[in-house]
Amino acid sequence: MSIRFDENNRIFYLNTVNSEYQIKIDEYGVALHTYYGKPVGNTDMSYLITEMDRGFSGNLYEARDRRGVSPDTLPTEYSTYGAGDFRLSAAGIIADNGSRTYDLRYVSHDIKSGKEALKGLPYVRAEKDKVDTLELKLEDKIIGLEVTLIYNVFEEKDVITRSARFANKSEKTITLTKAASMSIDIQYADLDIIEFHGRHAMERQTERRELGHDIHVISSKRGTSSHHHNPFVILCDHNADEDNGLCYGFMLVYSGNHAEEIEKDQAGSVRVVSGISGDGFAWKLGQDEDFQTPEVILACTENGLNELSYLYHRIIRENVCPAEFRDMKRPVLINNWEGTYFDFDEEKIMGIAKSASEIGCEMLVLDDGWFGVRNDDNSGLGDWFVNIDKLPGGIKKIADYTNSLGMKFGLWFEPEMVNEDSDLYRNHPDWALKDPDRKPVMGRNQLVLDMSRKEVVDYLFDSISKILDSANIEYVKWDFNRSLSNIYSFAADTEKQGEIAHRFMLGTYDLMQRLRERYPKIMIEGCSGGGGRFDAGILFYSPQIWCSDNSDAINRLKIQKGTSYGYPVSSMGAHVSASPNHQNGRVVPIETRAIVAMSGTFGYELDPRKLSEEDKATIKKQIEEFNRFYTLIQKGRYYRLTTDRQEGYYVAWQFVSEDKSEALLNVVATDVQGNPEIPFVRLKGLDAEAEYEIDYVKLSTGTTAEGGTNNSKTGKSFSGSALMHGGYATGPMFGVYPALQIHFKRK
Ligand code: DGJ
Repeated sequence: MSIRFDENNRIFYLNTVNSEYQIKIDEYGVALHTYYGKPVGNTDMSYLITEMDRGFSGNLYEARDRRGVSPDTLPTEYSTYGAGDFRLSAAGIIADNGSRTYDLRYVSHDIKSGKEALKGLPYVRAEKDKVDTLELKLEDKIIGLEVTLIYNVFEEKDVITRSARFANKSEKTITLTKAASMSIDIQYADLDIIEFHGRHAMERQTERRELGHDIHVISSKRGTSSHHHNPFVILCDHNADEDNGLCYGFMLVYSGNHAEEIEKDQAGSVRVVSGISGDGFAWKLGQDEDFQTPEVILACTENGLNELSYLYHRIIRENVCPAEFRDMKRPVLINNWEGTYFDFDEEKIMGIAKSASEIGCEMLVLDDGWFGVRNDDNSGLGDWFVNIDKLPGGIKKIADYTNSLGMKFGLWFEPEMVNEDSDLYRNHPDWALKDPDRKPVMGRNQLVLDMSRKEVVDYLFDSISKILDSANIEYVKWDFNRSLSNIYSFAADTEKQGEIAHRFMLGTYDLMQRLRERYPKIMIEGCSGGGGRFDAGILFYSPQIWCSDNSDAINRLKIQKGTSYGYPVSSMGAHVSASPNHQNGRVVPIETRAIVAMSGTFGYELDPRKLSEEDKATIKKQIEEFNRFYTLIQKGRYYRLTTDRQEGYYVAWQFVSEDKSEALLNVVATDVQGNPEIPFVRLKGLDAEAEYEIDYVKLSTGTTAEGGTNNSKTGKSFSGSALMHGGYATGPMFGVYPALQIHFKRK
């Protein structure tokens, strides 16, 4: 059992192979957080708590003669409000008499093996792993509120998941205005924060800074996890780097409004509160009703950021994503969006299918514009029936034709949206989220459907199923192209309106789950104008998410690197698109574009009919090469190799197979220099004793990296220790965004 309770001292020990988490119930029944870090052999770490009167930090009534024991300074497992703790509260409660105070004390606990599914929510699956669960029941006796803190210990995977369940045990109504999944207090915390902010077409930019004595909030009230603030945050030592240093990760398994709040308090402790955002949130709990929060995945390591990322990659790939697609070879796809946008018909799409098959693509994805009356982005959303003016033979004709070419077929949907100019809206104007007395805020000229209504979800399930039943469709791209505003449901009572943003997410998850159950073999690729819903919640239903609408390889280096801190390469949709790039006009060689897109799920997004014969031949080869390295890339360990300073000039990253028998090094020069500094990296994760031989070198056109040091040649060999400690110099890189990819094979 990875969870142990020491009854005499009332301490819970949660042990993974490389971490230990401790909770102590103190003499007043408060659940204290006493440790999270490297295993300390179940030493009671409460000796680190200092009893000290800090002034203006009050005391529990029963501890009034111990002024050094204050809820305002103690490290707790789930923070309270109005009961003496002035730091961030984990919940917001309004009791029937209007009081906002809640004070939680230990009631009981249950330790059991296994893990229960979270009903209606995505979660980390136990799968074949040994997982133990602690349910810690806390209560505010005065208002009859029960809060159960749920901990799942994935012993071998070195992660712990946390969530909270609220239950109203009184006869009166309790309103939740905030219901975080977790809070934690890290004492003596002199830490940096790393977060992933962004914008449409520039998602998950990495930002690292020192935590000061303030409250730092990463949040979204867009109804989605958002392009702007990913629900994943890292706290780490100031000197932590890829290979060393204490790092904590907190990742919310949720796709809607969220908040990760971090406060460094007067004594230098850091509190992290993570969960659904309290903005606009109000949830009424009647007698015996409960509310389950989403989960947070926690990980902790002293071995630096790379190890932290590895823990998240492994748990997401193996325990969050649907099992059906984990080991499946995902098809190299061609998507017509950047190739045609809305300007296509049957003949054009079939022509694209034909030439894509000739260059080795394995799946054709027909993007936006095949349904309703949709010739631009102003109409048609919600009308999930084929536009036979454009596609007279229906989806079936195209799917059959694509299959006859030896390729799979996939189709785009944007289920949760509706245009005013659509039959659906004309028939059901009240199915859209909008304020009854205002003109709605528009986004891409579309409205958002009220997914909190069962009839809306049913309509979508039926109409999407009809299409999926009509042809051999093996993949669905699930898009979402605006933020939520005017969140008001025509079907809900006044006092329920504060529940709609979360109920919207529950409706979406329900639709995804129902479609997954009915079509377990259809792979969903998540998407929200690129990576606006790139989160572990969506990954529960879809093993990959379109990473960004920005397909420029050079911008992608930053987007994919930021994404890689928390999410595996196998989840990142990445395509080679035309050059000059449509988002920023940049010209990048096709080899460089492919090397970057290969560090994702890989595919093409262009019109293959317009390619030169030379590019066609190149692509054919690229697909063969990607397939050769598929397992290494998708399942190997991923290492970021370059520092921010180096990345002003070149970016490098690497994959190593689990058995260390092979490695793939990738280098892209982002700013070539005259009389250059030579790109240099120390490889990681190799077998120090082994000898590795280069058996494959890919250089982008015009690159002369083999010059000078002469290292990038097939047949050359190096010891693992030389590559890891001495390092590897590429030679001068010359040309337009030159790139280099090298495969090392253990001899
Ligand atoms: C946004 C997506 O990210 C694109 O790939 C494309 O599918 C468009 N929507 C279509 O409207």
